[in-house]
Amino acid sequence: MKISIRSQQSDIKYDITIRRDSLDDVSDYFDLNRKVLVVTDDGTPSCYSEKVMSQSRAPYLYSIEAGEPSKNIDNFSRILAFMLEKKFTRSDAVVAVGGGVVGDLAGFVASAYMRGVAFYNAPTTLLSQVDSSIGGKCAVDFGGVKNSIGAFKFPSAVLIDPNTLRTLDRRQVSAGLAEAIKMGLTSDASLFGLIEKSEKLDDDIDHIIAKSLRVKADVVSSDPFEAGLRKVLNFGHTVGHAIESLYGGSLLHGECVAAGMTYMCSDEVLKRLVPVLDKYGLPHSVGFDRDKALDLIGSDKKASGDSISVVYVDRIGSFEFRSMKVEELGRAIAVGDS
Ligand SMILES: NC(=O)c1ccc[n+]([C@@H]2O[C@H](COP(=O)([O-])OP(=O)(O)OC[C@H]3O[C@@H](n4cnc5c(N)ncnc54)[C@H](O)[C@@H]3O)[C@@H](O)[C@H]2O)c1
Repeated sequence: MKISIRSQQSDIKYDITIRRDSLDDVSDYFDLNRKVLVVTDDGTPSCYSEKVMSQSRAPYLYSIEAGEPSKNIDNFSRILAFMLEKKFTRSDAVVAVGGGVVGDLAGFVASAYMRGVAFYNAPTTLLSQVDSSIGGKCAVDFGGVKNSIGAFKFPSAVLIDPNTLRTLDRRQVSAGLAEAIKMGLTSDASLFGLIEKSEKLDDDIDHIIAKSLRVKADVVSSDPFEAGLRKVLNFGHTVGHAIESLYGGSLLHGECVAAGMTYMCSDEVLKRLVPVLDKYGLPHSVGFDRDKALDLIGSDKKASGDSISVVYVDRIGSFEFRSMKVEELGRAIAVGDS
């Protein structure tokens, strides 16, 4: 399956290919006939980066420690120093092999080195396959603030091999699925139905990935730099981010988004959403301190004055942007008060 991103508002063009075992032929999709820096982490099985290395003319490997704390400015500058030392030029390339942490960091490196070199992404977690590997946003966490320094760096190509998910633990798979559920709820009722009815995820995952990416591709093609529509991708994230901060990393991002979505939909939607979250082991009623959550939400970049802009789903497959007063939001999340 191939999905093409073509933005009418700029000259952004790239293809995303979803094919099992496609990493075995990665050089058919990425131009690896040059110096190639493969960025990965030590939690991603090395067989995936080895496939890219073995098909590159002049391969170099840079592996970081797995986990969000590695998405930092020190690793960013270390990788740039490594590229300088190895005499990478503007016609060389960076390839990310791993989850969203590796993709965000490697993309930012590729955006900065010599004012930009080619960037390819081979995402290996479900979250990165359905969401973070496309759209061009890349960043590192800085000054205690997540994604506070970054850039838009559109990949030259994205290669998704769903078989890489066979080594990923179930909790991570479910966390990635939360982002796919999000896309289904806001924009594609048939995607939500597929996830809801799936009896064997491995059989349906290629279609779930493709449908999720179509939703994201449509959104990012019409709004590449997040001027408006792209904010729909924040569904579940307003409260989700606050829960994520309050839980200090013990809940995965997708788990927080799962819980966050439940506050931003109608009762009718909730009736179908809760059983789906249960089915995949995703939380929907997590306890948290409402006042602290509201403080965090109020200082969020989506807040203006005493109102906050949220994405609300009244009917599965559609959404609306709502401006909510902080007290209104407080009432909505009162159920989560611990
Ligand atoms: N750029 C965007 O648009 C965007 C969107 C959403 C999220 N993100 C970012 O993505 C990051 C989260 O990404 P993530 O959920 O992929 O987490 P992650 O990158 O931390 O990966 C999760 C874990 O899975 C391991 N792993 C990766 N592939 C594996 C595989 N095939 N088999 C076994 N283990 C594997 C990793 O080593 C890591 O330990 C966050 O930093 C978030 O900010 C970015």
